[in-house]
Amino acid sequence: MPDSPNLPTDHTSFKANEDATGEAVGLSHLKFAYSEQDNPVIDIPSWHLAKSEKCFIAGPSGAGKSTLLNLLTGTLAPTEGEITLLGQPFSSLSSRKRDAFRARHIGVVFQQFNLIEYLTVQQNIEAAAYFYKGKAGMTEARQRIPSMLEHLQLSPTIGRKKAATLSVGQRQRVAIARALINRPQLLIADEPTSSLDAQTRDQFMQLLLDIAQDTAVIFVSHDVSLARYFSRHEDIREINAIQGNVQ
Ligand SMILES: Nc1ncnc2c1ncn2[C@@H]1O[C@H](COP(=O)(O)OP(=O)(O)OP(=O)(O)O)[C@@H](O)[C@H]1O
Ligand SMILES: [Mg+2]
Repeated sequence: MPDSPNLPTDHTSFKANEDATGEAVGLSHLKFAYSEQDNPVIDIPSWHLAKSEKCFIAGPSGAGKSTLLNLLTGTLAPTEGEITLLGQPFSSLSSRKRDAFRARHIGVVFQQFNLIEYLTVQQNIEAAAYFYKGKAGMTEARQRIPSMLEHLQLSPTIGRKKAATLSVGQRQRVAIARALINRPQLLIADEPTSSLDAQTRDQFMQLLLDIAQDTAVIFVSHDVSLARYFSRHEDIREINAIQGNVQ
């Protein structure tokens, strides 16, 4: 895979204090506005997710679901308040340290799966391991990838295919493998089923939850029929005090 000049190198500096708290996510007085001129879009006084929970978040367009997930993955930083993940301060870290924490502890599945098109399936999955702990991570990943592909009902030879050549169904399963290759303690998914037909969608949900059995999950979707897969259900409007200009 190509070298990246921006890789976090202090891979060992985050050891989640795994037994100190049963909490996966803690939000406290969290506020966010996209800029000083913009109205705030997030105001969450308090919200918590236990490590044992799998939470489905629904709600109308524009209500702040993706913004919240971007705060949780550290691609956005709060305007006020604090996010703790796995019992550790997260949002107050530098963006570089948040990147390193994300690579180690958080799996993310996006709506469009965001695979790197010109890399092979194997390289796409290995890249996630590389961001976590460099070449050693890739070596470990190489050992796990065949069984992961098998678990996801993908042929072992698919590893050599370029991401650009995959079907949507194959793409979604590679995205699951990439999100979970580092055994993250938290999985975050933003509308990952919106481009799938009903049958593929149900298969995706089964595979995702089967392979993420021991992982706390936050899953956002408009499709409330998916709520049945989750132990906890939330409406973003109940969590976020800002109703905004929702549709
Ligand atoms: N980059 C941005 N700059 C400024 N405002 C933004 C930006 N992204 C989103 N917003 C605004 O923030 C609010 C929340 O948007 P967000 O994308 O979080 O909603 P959502 O609940 O994910 O909606 P959807 O269900 O359509 O994906 C909206 O009013 C939106 O216009
Ligand atoms: Mg969204």
